[in-house]
Amino acid sequence: MGTIGLIVQTVSAIFFAVVGLFLFALFQPALNGWFDGPQTVPVEISQQRMAEKAADMDRVEDGIHLETGLIAAEGWETVRATCTACHSAKLVTQNKATRDGWKNMIVWMQETQGLWDLGDQENAILDYLAANYAPEESSRRANLDMEAIEWYLLEL
Ligand code: HEC
Repeated sequence: MGTIGLIVQTVSAIFFAVVGLFLFALFQPALNGWFDGPQTVPVEISQQRMAEKAADMDRVEDGIHLETGLIAAEGWETVRATCTACHSAKLVTQNKATRDGWKNMIVWMQETQGLWDLGDQENAILDYLAANYAPEESSRRANLDMEAIEWYLLEL
């Protein structure tokens, strides 16, 4: 090999060494932790986090279950378990219907959307829906009690 070849070899060796050092310096922060073992979270801490998360998911404030928006009245947990499997609870909370209306929606989902037979739970679910998501009419004030009114004459 001639002198020129030797020079070319030396120069390129130095060149690659410099490029290598440069790249190493560039990515070195990213290499932090590559040679450490897997990170372990102490069991107590991960259990505590899971408990906090579970508590968050069950949180009820002012009678509303925060995660789903369902009214936290009797039967709500059955409704959460059954009626949020396929879609958001919003579909429930944004609807209002009579007991029959809710029954029809359930039948429609059973016939067309693959909703299963609700068995014993159907009654509890319908009770909850009819009580908490009833049409506006049923929340109108009661009719006046004509007997109880004290009539008086307007003085003109
Ligand atoms: C097996 C899946 C599944 C389950 C479980 C399910 N649904 Fe549905 N439901 C659907 C599908 C699919 C739709 C149509 C969604 C859409 O139009 O985007 C729907 C739509 C609805 C609607 C809207 C109906 C309308 O006329 O707009 C309501 C209200 C509803 N579901 C209530 C419930 C209630 C209450 C339960 C619990 C008893 C329930 N769903 C459980 C699949 C399901």
